[in-house]
Amino acid sequence: MAGERVAKGERMAVETAAAAQPLVVTRIADARAWVERERRAGRTVGLVPTMGALHAGHASLAERARRECDRVVATVFVNPTQFGPHEDFQRYPRTFAADVALLAAIGVDMVFAPEADEMYRSSTAATSVLPAGVAATLEGECRPGHFAGVATVVLKLFHIVPADTAYFGAKDYQQTLVVRRMVADLDMPIRIEVCPTIREPDGLALSSRNRYLSSEERGRALGLSRGLAAAQRAFTQGERVAATLERLARAELESAGVGPIDYVALADPETLDRPEQAGDRAVLLIAARVGGTRLIDNRILE
Ligand code: PAJ
Repeated sequence: MAGERVAKGERMAVETAAAAQPLVVTRIADARAWVERERRAGRTVGLVPTMGALHAGHASLAERARRECDRVVATVFVNPTQFGPHEDFQRYPRTFAADVALLAAIGVDMVFAPEADEMYRSSTAATSVLPAGVAATLEGECRPGHFAGVATVVLKLFHIVPADTAYFGAKDYQQTLVVRRMVADLDMPIRIEVCPTIREPDGLALSSRNRYLSSEERGRALGLSRGLAAAQRAFTQGERVAATLERLARAELESAGVGPIDYVALADPETLDRPEQAGDRAVLLIAARVGGTRLIDNRILE
């Protein structure tokens, strides 16, 4: 009997440890006070900004932060200012309970999950960040205002959660360049780490928007990663003409039934300039629709 009680007690202790809940904070002042206290105590803080609907891609960022920092903060905020008027802000998946459970399992310490009126006190803020340069092309052309929304909210998050390091995914390649450039231009005291794109075993890049796909569309969506792979094969065999590499990728998209295509673009990995001839290293970026869902993917060719 006593033995059984001990065994039960042990199991409960394990369950409690596995389910250790992160602190969930919704107020800016509370989040900042918590982070400042941790840093004053000499602990390093890692930040993982997200819009929720978390998957293994987000988890990989949080796991890396967990390995590298004393404290890990994840933010869950579907940022209205980075969505265009006809985009999917309203229907963007919101799965907060599951998100917190996933972050708990990784050992994230704090989740900052503000309401929109906490982040944007007045509906027309007078001040925002307007990134140019790497923000002007590709996603910047297809989604006017998108990177202003991203840069502004990321800057706000960096102020609210004054972390040592922030973790971003290479899945949103152009976003990583925009954020890095903002941090450099505005002398922000934070280190940016970019983590590799996590994919399904068949190559599909994980995305919160994959939830929108029917199983038939899910099959067609493989055209994106196949297009990138086809370009990589040609690149490995020595092909360097940008138009040829783009055409090979486009052919895969079309044969998979992906479209309309917003862009298939071979670009310089740092500047996003569009060379006619690739150098030893280039990035191929794709944005295209599968049914009603807009997907992006990219791959470094080297
Ligand atoms: P969200 O799309 O939720 O992505 C949050 C972070 O997860 C981003 O850095 C993104 O690049 C990364 N991520 C998404 N899919 C990934 C994958 N398959 N593999 C690796 N990392 C992946 O990006 C945003 O939110 C927002 O723009 C945000 C930065 C939070 C500002 O609102």
